[in-house]
Amino acid sequence: MAPDGFWRPLFEGQVVCVSGGAAGIGGAVSRLFAGAGATVVIADVDAASAAALASALRDEGASAEHVECDVAVESDVVAMVDALVSRHGRLDVVHLNAAVEWMKDLRSTSLAEWERVLAVNLTGIFLLGRAALAVMCEQRRGSMVVMSSPHALATVPDACAYSASKAGDLGLMRALALEGAPYGVRANAVMPGTIDTPMVRREVQVARSPAQQLERMAACHPLGRMGQPEEVAHAVAFLASSLASFVTGSTLSVDGGLMSVLPSGPALPYNA
Ligand SMILES: NC(=O)c1ccc[n+]([C@@H]2O[C@H](COP(=O)([O-])OP(=O)(O)OC[C@H]3O[C@@H](n4cnc5c(N)ncnc54)[C@H](O)[C@@H]3O)[C@@H](O)[C@H]2O)c1
Repeated sequence: MAPDGFWRPLFEGQVVCVSGGAAGIGGAVSRLFAGAGATVVIADVDAASAAALASALRDEGASAEHVECDVAVESDVVAMVDALVSRHGRLDVVHLNAAVEWMKDLRSTSLAEWERVLAVNLTGIFLLGRAALAVMCEQRRGSMVVMSSPHALATVPDACAYSASKAGDLGLMRALALEGAPYGVRANAVMPGTIDTPMVRREVQVARSPAQQLERMAACHPLGRMGQPEEVAHAVAFLASSLASFVTGSTLSVDGGLMSVLPSGPALPYNA
């Protein structure tokens, strides 16, 4: 973990928007930027959790606010970004993080289910990315960090809509990077392994033994464990910061080695 005050010189006074910023990885990202002296706008469909986190951060002396926003709804996203810019006059960082999981195979997925996952996970990135890009190009400054997933590259049989959405997010990230580049606006993606969040805790509930499934998920990572939301938040902060001033259009894995493993090799854990 970064020492206390590490991120402050990089983000103090900046305005940061985190979609899905109320819980899980987004919650950790909101906390990191708030602790770094930025004003954090927590945009989440779960207004109560977003309000509670913003209030807790303010109690700790940080600058944080919440907005009820469904990233799949164009009017929500446009109104949220417009209001934020008119309140603060700038938008420095956007973390496009909100998503929903979907654990069904192709044949069991209805069109309505497919459309909802794509609406949140892919169209949500399009809508927020488009609104943020317009502001950032105008101010000739800004950085976006898109949340992808290993499911963009490899998947399991029951995650068809989720994997399609996450692969699409990488394409959108590259489009944001190319369109923003002439204005000095950067866009990158993070690709976390399995991170211990409410989403993963929900997912394992469908397994016969949720506890065993958690252990199995942890053991798939060469580092031998799941990641913590804070470990992803540090990668998001790096990509968003001026430390990454020449990094755009790239994807940073934060996956404990997960995507380096070929299943044809010896069984994990590898011996020391
Ligand atoms: N947890 C993991 O192992 C993991 C791994 C790879 C990628 N990811 C990705 O990381 C991101 C965060 O995942 P998490 O595990 O923290 O999830 P989570 O479910 O724990 O938290 C997601 C947050 O997004 C919010 N949200 C959901 N739908 C929304 C919508 N339509 N509009 C606005 N907010 C919405 C939720 O209310 C919640 O606060 C997601 O994009 C997920 O796909 C997670």
